[in-house]
Amino acid sequence: DGYGITVLTLFPELVEEYFRTSIVGKAADRGALIPKVINIRDFSQDRHRSCDDAPYGGGAGMVLMAEPLATALDSVDAKARHVVFPTPSGRPFRQRDALRLSRQKEIVLICGRYEGIDQRIVDEYVDEEFTIGDYVLSSGELAAMVVIDAVYRLREGMLRPESVLEDSFQDGLLEHPHYTRPEVFRSRKVPEILLSGHHARIAQWRREQQVIRTARNRPDLLQNLSLTEAEQILTES
Ligand code: ADE
Repeated sequence: DGYGITVLTLFPELVEEYFRTSIVGKAADRGALIPKVINIRDFSQDRHRSCDDAPYGGGAGMVLMAEPLATALDSVDAKARHVVFPTPSGRPFRQRDALRLSRQKEIVLICGRYEGIDQRIVDEYVDEEFTIGDYVLSSGELAAMVVIDAVYRLREGMLRPESVLEDSFQDGLLEHPHYTRPEVFRSRKVPEILLSGHHARIAQWRREQQVIRTARNRPDLLQNLSLTEAEQILTES
C-alpha cells in the first residue's frame, strides 16, 4: 500500500499543485502515494483566522502560533507519526536521511512561514528538523517539496534499484558526465571510450570522471572517502 505524506501549510494550493503535476503526482494517481494537504488556517481559533503573532521578547517578523498548529497536528494524529520540520535552523538534509525517511510508512511535514514556529510545537511534536541548504527561503513549502521529492523517488527506486545505486552520493562521489546521440554535436565529440564497447574501461573512465568532478566542485566530500593512489593523483590537478 501507499506511502503517506501529510503536509501542514498556510499555502495549500502550492503543495496541491505539486502533488498534481509532478512525478509524485502520477504516483498519487496509482495509489503508491497517499498525499494529504492540511490548511493550518482552518484550525485558527479566532474570527480573523489568524495563525501568527509577534515574538515574545521583541524582534522583527511574526511567529506561527502554537494553538492552530497543534490542533492541525492533532487532526492528523501527528503524535503517533513521524514529523519532519524543514527549517534553516535544522541539521543538513542528506541523501541518507532521504533513504531513512523512505523506509518509514508515512511522514508528516510542517511548513513554517514568517520567522518560525512556536518552539513548544517543536518540543511537543517534531521528530526531525532539517535544512535543505545554507540559505533562507521565505517559505517552508519549497523545502518540504524538496524533502518529499528526494524521499519519494527512492521509494520508486525500490522498483528499479540500479537507478538509485547510480545516484550521486550513493558512493560519496558526484556523478560522471552523460552523453546521448548524436555522436557529434556542434563539432563536440562524445568521448571515444564511451563508443568502444569496452565495459571495464568505461567503468574506469567514469569513476575517474567522478573523482575529478568531486575534487573540483565538492572537495568537502572527498574527506570521508578512501581513494586509491591513482585516484588521489586525479584530485591534485
Ligand atoms: N525554510 C526556509 N529556509 C529553509 C531552508 N534553507 N531549509 C529548510 N527549510 C527552510
